[in-house]
Amino acid sequence: MNQTKIIAHRGSKGTHPENTIEAITEAVRVGSDGIEIDVHLSLDQELIVIHDETIDRTTNGKGLVQNLTLTQLKQFDAGSWYSSEYSTSRIPTLQEVFYLLDAADYQGLVNIELKTDKVLYPGIEEKVVAFAAEKNWPFTIEYSSFNYQTLIELKRLDATCKIALLFKKTGKNVHFLTPDIPVNMWHPKLSWFRSVSLFRIPEMPVRVWTVNKSNDLQFCFCKNLAGIITDYPQKALEIRNKWQGEGE
Ligand code: G3P
Ligand code: MG
Repeated sequence: MNQTKIIAHRGSKGTHPENTIEAITEAVRVGSDGIEIDVHLSLDQELIVIHDETIDRTTNGKGLVQNLTLTQLKQFDAGSWYSSEYSTSRIPTLQEVFYLLDAADYQGLVNIELKTDKVLYPGIEEKVVAFAAEKNWPFTIEYSSFNYQTLIELKRLDATCKIALLFKKTGKNVHFLTPDIPVNMWHPKLSWFRSVSLFRIPEMPVRVWTVNKSNDLQFCFCKNLAGIITDYPQKALEIRNKWQGEGE
């Protein structure tokens, strides 16, 4: 039996400040099968790893990522909002995250979510695909987005890339959602999967987010999902291994 893959959401978001080097390092340390990160573009067109369109919630600064340069973004403390222990933490670039994972010889999956659902960031798809192709990374790269135009553009730029359709809710038959996009995986919200799975299990590989509670984790493991995206990868791995065995 294939084990359900455990993907660390924004790094290990539940135990460290999200989308920081510290959260990503923790996700690697606990043995996550995959790591999900969110990417935006700065004013000077750098690929920036952060969840929100603004830096207000997760740093001591204010403003839109698209209105700030990398130098400006780097001035802010990206850890103290979570705990004073992380006051030296800074917003990372995608390049810094990839170099860290490369140095750690991380062989899991890196799920880059392109955050183009509120701000479009023209050209972000091209930049991400070009950066991903820069070298033979030890990890596997996949993309996801709530913006279906971004997914289409990613496939246009690299027909071999793997893309996941992110969604919160649909009707019961998700095939009607995006018949024209050759998606490789679905990344639905847990509440959607909880309701639709009563009717049928989709044929597409499904990775549900955000699965944190023990009973939800067990539910997903019983359904033998392809993957789950969780804020607590260490806890999820422990429960997964209890339910599905340690694997190879
Ligand atoms: O990739 C799953 C999840 O990250 C999507 O929602 O808002 O946490 O980026 P969000
Ligand atoms: Mg995300």
